Amino acid sequence: MIKFAQPKIGKSTLTKIDKIFKTGHFVHGDFTKIFEKDLAKFFDLKNKQILTTASCTASLHLYYLCIGLKKNDEVIMSAQTHVATAHAVEICGAKPVFVDCELETGNIKIDDIERKINSKTVCICVTHFLGKPTDMNKINKIAKKYKLKVVEDTALSIGSKIENKFSGTFGDAGAFSFHPVKIITTGEGGAIIIKNRNIFQKLKSIKSFGYDIASPQDRKIPGNYNINYLGLNYRMSEMESAIGIDELKIINNKISVRKKNYHLLLSKIDKCKNFKILNTKSDKKYKSSYYALTIILKENNFLKRNKIIQILKQKNIQTSIYYPHPVPLLNYYRKKYKSKKEKFRNACKIAYNSISFPIGPHISRKNILYMSKKINELIG
Ligand SMILES: Cc1ncc(COP(=O)(O)O)c(C=O)c1O
Repeated sequence: MIKFAQPKIGKSTLTKIDKIFKTGHFVHGDFTKIFEKDLAKFFDLKNKQILTTASCTASLHLYYLCIGLKKNDEVIMSAQTHVATAHAVEICGAKPVFVDCELETGNIKIDDIERKINSKTVCICVTHFLGKPTDMNKINKIAKKYKLKVVEDTALSIGSKIENKFSGTFGDAGAFSFHPVKIITTGEGGAIIIKNRNIFQKLKSIKSFGYDIASPQDRKIPGNYNINYLGLNYRMSEMESAIGIDELKIINNKISVRKKNYHLLLSKIDKCKNFKILNTKSDKKYKSSYYALTIILKENNFLKRNKIIQILKQKNIQTSIYYPHPVPLLNYYRKKYKSKKEKFRNACKIAYNSISFPIGPHISRKNILYMSKKINELIG
């Protein structure tokens, strides 16, 4: 089976994990500190304000808790994102306000943002779709005009850049995912970059119950702590951090292989007439992290799309869908906000007619040639 993703753990990581088993330091150990330092170095963060978390969802939730997001507040976001982008807002009692996406890239339609802004709007949350960054200069301009905060959901796009600056470093916060299908993994896990020093300190405490001294090693009297905030347990474990340290070392290589795979597959299917290819590749201004190669079938027929996915699976090709419904049309949101599909035409086209193909480092040239042959036969 050609899998959509296939994370690998090397010897160096196994040695680290072995050490964790021997020392018994499963949390609050050195590996998490090292991983956070390495991440700060990777992103070239002078203020070193990046923290590991339990997941990208946790990162987003923590940020909104820190800024006091509450009932009647609104956060603008793309309809074509993972449900986590919206859930993190909804769980704080606030309202996600959805904007359609561009058909060409799947990124939020920036021109539609301003008309959704009102006195309740607190934040714009941008999802960098499938590796291709959104134009953050335009987003930050809008945010500045209306004094809004900006969050970058960079779950799919770690390592992507806009004019040589990393996505996730443009907004007030940038959230990352290290779930196993992502560019790099820690098993489960996430991270968050935070611009504001006070919010950074607060988030550090809140991800660990709201402790006054987050790490037990730093406490003068073992077991003695106080609580300054209402917090949760959203920490990354030592085993996850150990995996992350080694994954981060090879991130650039992983993205290069993804790019090579993307272009090889593209070159074998770009003459096909029955689908368009989502533009998630690099250009002069944007460097993509090449999450997947996504095709959008021209015929609007999601049953046919689903059938094709099933046939591909029978032919040992595992694909994915990003994402299966626009978030406002998922049952929970559709019922609550009475969302109408006519408002999200592009998101619907992508959700109901697209198929994403794997291009990760586990994919060989032979795999690409096989996939392209089947794509040509089935839907060329
Ligand atoms: C855009 C986006 N945001 C957030 C998430 C959630 O990430 P995590 O599983 O790390 O919570 C995902 C997961 O795929 C995602 O695609």
